[in-house]
Amino acid sequence: MSAPRGQFSSNIGFLMAAAGSAVGLGNIWGFPTKAAGNGGAAFVVVYLLLAFMLAYPALMAELTIGRHARRNMVQALRGISTGPVSRFFANLAGFGGIVVASLILSFYAIVAGWMVAYLADPFANLFGMSGAAEWLTGNSTARNLTFTAIFSGMTMLIIAAGVEKGIERWSTLLMPSLIVLLLLLIVYVLTQPGAMTGLEVYLMPDFSHLSPELLIAAMGQAFFSLSLGVGTMLIYGSYLSRQESLPRLGALVTLIDVGIAFTAGLLILPAMYVAQEAGTQIFSETGELIAGPGLILQVLPALFDSMGTAGLFVAIAFFALMVIASLTSSISMLEVPVAFTIENLGVARRIATPLVGLVIFAISSAIIVNFDSLFGLVVSASTEYGQPLLGVALCVFAGWIWRRDQLLAELQKGHEDIKQTLFWKIWPWYVRIVCPLLILAAFIQSVI
Ligand code: TRP
Repeated sequence: MSAPRGQFSSNIGFLMAAAGSAVGLGNIWGFPTKAAGNGGAAFVVVYLLLAFMLAYPALMAELTIGRHARRNMVQALRGISTGPVSRFFANLAGFGGIVVASLILSFYAIVAGWMVAYLADPFANLFGMSGAAEWLTGNSTARNLTFTAIFSGMTMLIIAAGVEKGIERWSTLLMPSLIVLLLLLIVYVLTQPGAMTGLEVYLMPDFSHLSPELLIAAMGQAFFSLSLGVGTMLIYGSYLSRQESLPRLGALVTLIDVGIAFTAGLLILPAMYVAQEAGTQIFSETGELIAGPGLILQVLPALFDSMGTAGLFVAIAFFALMVIASLTSSISMLEVPVAFTIENLGVARRIATPLVGLVIFAISSAIIVNFDSLFGLVVSASTEYGQPLLGVALCVFAGWIWRRDQLLAELQKGHEDIKQTLFWKIWPWYVRIVCPLLILAAFIQSVI
């Protein structure tokens, strides 16, 4: 552990990296389709409330623990433990976080690989290579292995370059491009026939949908979207300077995440109804809006096809957006096991990255080869079980195990008058009682 630890060079760098982690396929694909299936604006409102009332406090727990410890999740939780029992749970949660982060990356890289293949497709068409184009969009094992490997390779290249030259530099470059692409696409799609119907479906609240299921869906979405539970935000917090106010930065990350999810809805739902206008089926046989892979891999490509040559460029912009969103998220997942390997096993970053990356790619490959039996299983084990349980553990560590005076001292760094703020009056109790109970309640509801 002699090598100096990486650090973000500025708060903007941290903000871009943390927002980049949060903003991913979950925002652009997950959020709009969940909103459409759960009463439109009713879901949006519930989601907004939960993001700030539940996900933000949990995010603060991770950031504060991380910046205090300046180590990965295993070391950080051990460091704030007070006895053998809490140290045992620190190890359990710490290693759990590393395993779950790796599992999430193993399926995320497959989906992101599809995005890279679909980004390559319009180029193949532009150059008249129709055979290649067909292979790119055909769902073969070879195609999936190839593009998961390409995407994993890109993720590894960034992580191997380190915190400042890899994570920070790429996030600062990619996040603004993502916003520009998203806005350009929205402007284009909203001028197409049918778009307004989609906008209505998205923004008209239907409160008859309010139910425990809606709450659970919104909570799961918020947890996934803010990259919580597995130590991603903890490790990013550990690279943050002590001059910055954590509550403010955390609130900004939450705002950007929620803002981009909401904005993505202004693209996806209108685009679906434009596709319908152009003759594509957007409802499944059971009458629900198509939300799964069919949406991104069939409905939207059919729409782009119907737009002629312009459609090629729209397709490039759209899948570039998806690749960028995925990449700033996947690097944050890979950093979790890599930081552990560097700090606990004493391996240099340039070696730790390909080592860990290849192990995760091997898991992805196993999933690809046994897609029908493994994909859904890994998704639900990691996001429906792993994430909420680890989220509870992190709140318990921040709220019950960590010494209050140390916690306060950490929060005061970069925010001296924190004791006078509403944040300090509410959050410590909140993270102690409300967060764990709410997450547990939702978890139990969703499991039974
Ligand atoms: N938040 C990202 C998204 O919305 C995905 C992500 C990145 C993530 N890091 C994570 C999800 C850690 C869970 C845990 O797509």
